[in-house]
Amino acid sequence: MGKKYFIKTFGCQMNFNDSERIRGILRTLGYEPAESWEEADLILLNTCTIREKPDQKVLSHIGEYKKIKERNPNALIAVSGCLAQRAGWELVQKAPAVDIMFSSFNMHQLPELINQAQAGYKAVAILEAPPEDEDAVWDFPTERDNPYCAYVTIIKGCDKNCTYCVVPKTRGKERSRSMYSILEEVKKLVDEGVREIHLLGQNVTAWGKDFERPIPFSELLYEVSKVDGVERIRFTTGHPKDLTDDTVEAMADIPQVCNALHLPFQAGSDRILELMDRKYTKEFYLDRINRLKEAVEDIALSTDIIVGFPTETDEDFEHTLDVVREVEFEQVFSFKYSPRPGTPAAEMEGQVPDEVKTERMSRLLELQKAIMGKLSKRYEGTVQKVLVEEERGEGTLIGRTTTNKWATFKGGRELLGKIVKVRVESASPFNLECELLEVVR
Ligand code: SAH
Ligand code: SF4
Ligand code: F3S
Repeated sequence: MGKKYFIKTFGCQMNFNDSERIRGILRTLGYEPAESWEEADLILLNTCTIREKPDQKVLSHIGEYKKIKERNPNALIAVSGCLAQRAGWELVQKAPAVDIMFSSFNMHQLPELINQAQAGYKAVAILEAPPEDEDAVWDFPTERDNPYCAYVTIIKGCDKNCTYCVVPKTRGKERSRSMYSILEEVKKLVDEGVREIHLLGQNVTAWGKDFERPIPFSELLYEVSKVDGVERIRFTTGHPKDLTDDTVEAMADIPQVCNALHLPFQAGSDRILELMDRKYTKEFYLDRINRLKEAVEDIALSTDIIVGFPTETDEDFEHTLDVVREVEFEQVFSFKYSPRPGTPAAEMEGQVPDEVKTERMSRLLELQKAIMGKLSKRYEGTVQKVLVEEERGEGTLIGRTTTNKWATFKGGRELLGKIVKVRVESASPFNLECELLEVVR
């Protein structure tokens, strides 16, 4: 009987992509996916530690999953990802049921770690820095749920050191993946039927800077677009400071690059931005946005905002609301500031009380709701191109527009994976009800 695994993933798209690769590694070891954790021989939690909440969730999940050992004493519990990297042995002390621990630095060591754990040892491989052979991970396949859209990690780590953020600690310094390795994966994915390539990194716009002979990110966009069969390209996340004019021009110039960009601004007040060490001002950010809006027709923008950073006053927060009003984002992901152990902001005086964060957050959400209502109305009556991704119930298809909006319409399964033209009948912030017009290709 083959062994079975169950993976629970927290956090960002990078972590989801890591899980896809971990699933690929497990497949090469003969493991198959289990329907539920109760049936698994290996339960893996791929963790996030960006805020306090995800930390707590991981511990409560381990508490539940450890019951598996009552029924299946040989079952293994593994913890990977950013919390594993940050907490290390401290986590094993808090949760002794954990048998295996590793991080995004050494996913490729999973086969040995499983062997060690099966032999009865605690297989904790948390390294100070990424090992020399970390690129070995690219040799493993990925196992994806979506056959048409695929994530491709192009840069690991982050050199930015924003004062609130744990990522530089959990993912290490910036390491760009080679152009060759990226293009090889893209070609393989397209051969498997993938049509949309989503390039990933904590800071994709910094790709190529760390090479002996630096290459601009825009060149990577051009190279990916030249791979036969790539219909769409997205990339996440870009840092405003690294979004250079050549990247904006490439976005406008390359037909496959989608009309959407996620560009976090975090806060509108220059004083807060400086305390965050974001290395730009409100004016600089708005200037980048204007440049994007001029260059890329109908671009859909989204962003991340932190509410209640230490010392933030109501007046500071007004600047955040200002940016939201001026840019009109299609989507805003807002987070209450959460102090992270070992980061400079956690030690700052003037921490903002939770009630104040909650109150500011609700003002922000209220404003954004009105903007989303207004923006979605603009879609009504327009014709959009949609990549058909899934069948939702008999005869109903869903897919996304190039602006990353979900569209629903009637059509048959044979359209899965095709680009189609639809007319938008009615629009709400999270869905466009459409009528199918024609198949493009
Ligand atoms: N590399 C990306 C962000 C990755 S983390 C960038 O710089 O844009 C995703 C989001 O989590 C951040 O954009 C930020 O809004 C939020 N975040 C990070 N640290 C946080 C903290 N300590 N408290 C609250 N939100 C945080
Ligand atoms: Fe964190 Fe800043 Fe790096 Fe984003 S750019 S991952 S917020 S340190
Ligand atoms: Fe979380 Fe790590 Fe991503 S901390 S947001 S999983 S980089």
